[in-house]
Amino acid sequence: MKGPSPAARAAELRRLLERANHAYYVLDKPEISDAEYDRAFRELQDLETQHPELRTPDSPTHRIGAEPADKFRKHRHLVPMLSLGNAFNETELAEWEERNGRLVPEVRKAGYTLEVKIDGAAVSLTYRDGVFTVGATRGNGIEGEDVTANLRTIDDIPLRLKGRGKTWPKLMEVRGEVYFSKSRFAELNREREKAGEPPFANPRNSAAGSLRQLDSKVTRSRRLRIFCFHVEAPGHTLSIATQHELLEQLGEWGFPVEPNHKLVPDLGQAHQQIASLEAILPTLDYGADGVVVKVNPFALYTELGTVGNREPRWAIARKFAPEVRVTKLKEIRINVGRTGALNPYAVLEPVEIGGVTVSTATLHNFQLIEAKDIRVGDWVEVTRAGEVIPQVLGPVIKKGVRRGSRYAPPERCPVCNSKVERPQDEVMVYCPNVSCPGRVFESIVHFASRGAMDIRGLGPERVKALLDAKLIETVADLYDRKRVSLMSLLTLEGFAEKSAQQLLDAIDASREQPLSTLLFALGIRHVGVQLARLLGRHFGTMRALAKAKAEEIGKIRGVGPAIAEAVAGFFADPQNQKLIKRLEELHLNMTEPAAAQTQGPLDGQVYVITGTLPSLSRARAAELIEGAGGHVTDSISKKTTAVVVGADAGSKLEKAKALGIPVIDEAELLRRARAKP
Ligand code: IVH
Repeated sequence: MKGPSPAARAAELRRLLERANHAYYVLDKPEISDAEYDRAFRELQDLETQHPELRTPDSPTHRIGAEPADKFRKHRHLVPMLSLGNAFNETELAEWEERNGRLVPEVRKAGYTLEVKIDGAAVSLTYRDGVFTVGATRGNGIEGEDVTANLRTIDDIPLRLKGRGKTWPKLMEVRGEVYFSKSRFAELNREREKAGEPPFANPRNSAAGSLRQLDSKVTRSRRLRIFCFHVEAPGHTLSIATQHELLEQLGEWGFPVEPNHKLVPDLGQAHQQIASLEAILPTLDYGADGVVVKVNPFALYTELGTVGNREPRWAIARKFAPEVRVTKLKEIRINVGRTGALNPYAVLEPVEIGGVTVSTATLHNFQLIEAKDIRVGDWVEVTRAGEVIPQVLGPVIKKGVRRGSRYAPPERCPVCNSKVERPQDEVMVYCPNVSCPGRVFESIVHFASRGAMDIRGLGPERVKALLDAKLIETVADLYDRKRVSLMSLLTLEGFAEKSAQQLLDAIDASREQPLSTLLFALGIRHVGVQLARLLGRHFGTMRALAKAKAEEIGKIRGVGPAIAEAVAGFFADPQNQKLIKRLEELHLNMTEPAAAQTQGPLDGQVYVITGTLPSLSRARAAELIEGAGGHVTDSISKKTTAVVVGADAGSKLEKAKALGIPVIDEAELLRRARAKP
């Protein structure tokens, strides 16, 4: 079978990586595991090396991280914060030494340090004369966010260095990793669930998020930790000559240093010691995603240099394949989501994977169960790649072992017994009944959740309690004080007067959410936050939207015909009409505030961005334009207002010139976007 052309594959990888970067850095919601990201990244790097003509200035291979957000002051690192290359097995590690040895033969005999690779958020701590002055996130590697106030709340970080004799350089940046201990993370989630807040999904992203809180009190309450492992002191002399000594020195100065580091004389020993470190990683109270191997003497660092300003040659991350375990599949159960999607999951004989006990795992969808022929009673391979939820990979079939019968996907909803629907071109199967109790439960949980109406104190447990007590049947009932009142809440278990009143207040406050939030909260199929905002801005009121035909909705830029049909279909349904009418009677806000209707300086204007801009990433530039009321498109047409051009702009610049479309630079864009409308 012939694969895609290198150009098509490179484009595909770029899209995948950009999307993953956005999900990781901007949304704090990773979509793929680190290992998958690393693999895709490397495949793209290789393609670009083999086919230099495929390189583009905006390729993710040129980036280290994401651009800093606006709300914190920017901080430029004295020395860029690099990332690390990966080695997934012994051969790749040997190849790394081989490459280094060709540049600097001494590396083979110089010795290596091995350090646990902490999976958290990278920070840089600046010390002047031994005093902590500035702390910053990595940001794009060159420039991060100044989160000094938040870092000061981490008790681990010495505000003044220890030790007499002033062994430290006048100015230095200490690099380390901020993380959540596993035990603290579990405790925090218990606290959050009690308070009716959604639990955090994974420690690394929550650590990054906790560091970027505008209120340092929130950061403090999270009780983050840090391990330090690296120092940059440009122009100042360090009295230390090796990484191994540095780790010791950092400890003496008062920094926490991960205790399991080792010094080995050569790569042969490294292989052995790495294996023993790998074995202890799951037992540690912090997330670790590999072992960092570093050339020990600093004297060789300058000569080894960096790869493309991105990764040093003197260090590499040895990563391990995600752990796979075999266990028995006891049962296949189905959860009905708020859109009605039937999500199959496996109930397993409990098995320990990467230090946690796994007893359920997703089976994704029925098509996959069928394709892999997974049957109840099978021995199955299960994995938990990084923070990604456990999943069943497939059955382990042994000759001569009798298996159960093939799994038959349900014809009827397991909760309400309605006949299921299978939309064409979709792998998911749906329960069509909007009043299905399974759907109702999930949709109310969604309605109240943080990104939606944000009703504090109304988590899954309380939704269940309200449904079980028949205080509510739909989201509208929440606002109906004849049903949900102080009196009725106090009859339920787990409600004291104070928490009941707080819940009522939170419900009342949510009435004021703008139309776009309400639209998202209603859980209309295909309507995510972005689309809800587009609809809210375009129509302004619920009435206008409810009256609109699919064709009209489809005319909004960025809304395809299938989505338009789904939205119009929602409002055509008599049950939904009834629900909206009731919400209106219960005084929910049904309008989008004028300010959010983006009366901006770039209203109605259309921009194309090309090349690398000096300070903004494309994503940030696009956000800026959209925030000011403009639009960004990919291709130049007569409708284009102007083309924003950065370094290495390609054919688009030519095309703009040919069509006589104005060409502007970043500075001009900023001037226009910030102008008063
Ligand atoms: S050395 C120039 N050592 O991993 C490289 N990094 O993927 C300096 N990390 O940005 C980093 N534990 O935030 C180094 N023992 C360790 C580490 C470590 C975790 C992080 C670090 C770095 C990232 C690279």
